[in-house]
Amino acid sequence: MTKDEIFTFFHNIGIVPVIKLDDAGKAVPLAKALMAGGIPCAEVTFRTQAAEESIKRMSAECPDILIGAGTVINPELAEKAVKAGAKFIVSAGLNPETVKWCNENNIPCVPGVCTPSEIELGLSLGLNVLKFFPAEASGGVGMLKNFQGPFGQVKFMTTGGINPSNLSDYAKAPNVLAVGGSWMVKDALINEENWDEITRLCKEATTLMQGFEIIHVGFNNESVDEAGKVAKEFEKFGFATKKGNSSTFVNTQIELCHKMFYGTHGHIAIRCNDLERAVFYLAKKGFSIIKGSEKYDAKGKLKVCYLDPEVGGFAIHLVK
Ligand code: 3PG
Repeated sequence: MTKDEIFTFFHNIGIVPVIKLDDAGKAVPLAKALMAGGIPCAEVTFRTQAAEESIKRMSAECPDILIGAGTVINPELAEKAVKAGAKFIVSAGLNPETVKWCNENNIPCVPGVCTPSEIELGLSLGLNVLKFFPAEASGGVGMLKNFQGPFGQVKFMTTGGINPSNLSDYAKAPNVLAVGGSWMVKDALINEENWDEITRLCKEATTLMQGFEIIHVGFNNESVDEAGKVAKEFEKFGFATKKGNSSTFVNTQIELCHKMFYGTHGHIAIRCNDLERAVFYLAKKGFSIIKGSEKYDAKGKLKVCYLDPEVGGFAIHLVK
């Protein structure tokens, strides 16, 4: 994978577990538990003697998981990690020497920052993906909002104090590339070899990251007149109807299409935090974009698409 592909992968998965392993013997089952939970990616931190061997085993035995090294405090450690199989380097702080070594060796490097000056240092070293650490203690989502103005070109991997109770807030922030943390790989869970619980927490995290919410149901009609007749029926309940170019809305929850559109009966519109990430997530569950249904915003980001297969006779309409 190229550097850009690795960053796109982080974005699409949305979650990067931060792992501390005391026993390299647990590395491979842990990698398998993460993958079963929909997270084929992990940062193995150099906080223990077992880190190097764990990276080696995970990389060799689980080729489908993207393994990187964390807590890399100098270039020597970065080199050691890459030799062991790490595909990216993360650190809690920003050591320019480590960043330079990674740049020279074309290894994606995500150093930690929590102030504007550190972000500027990262930019001066050619980075536009940085780790926001420790996220919660440094102002959390509010701080990220403040970074968005002056540093709109920077995307953050946010870690430190994130868990299922505040994950959704980070997932919604436009400058968050991915969320990292250790809540799904706590020491106790690894020591007890509680792989099922780790898998469950991973699944929960990737679902929370999507922020799925049903926003309206759309019904197909043969013509604008047919849609008008249906709208009249809903008006009997006192609901407001609003005729547009291609459909008529009943409140905001029902859309009456003026023609036979996607889906046998129509569509169900589901909002998500990020369309590209949602499409990646849903692809693993058997959904794919209906060709020609995609619309992109001015920045080339997917903003609308319809999915196959139908659910109960309805196409799924994904919107942000
Ligand atoms: C890190 O290095 O990113 C943190 O240790 C992860 O933070 P958390 O343990 O609070 O999730």
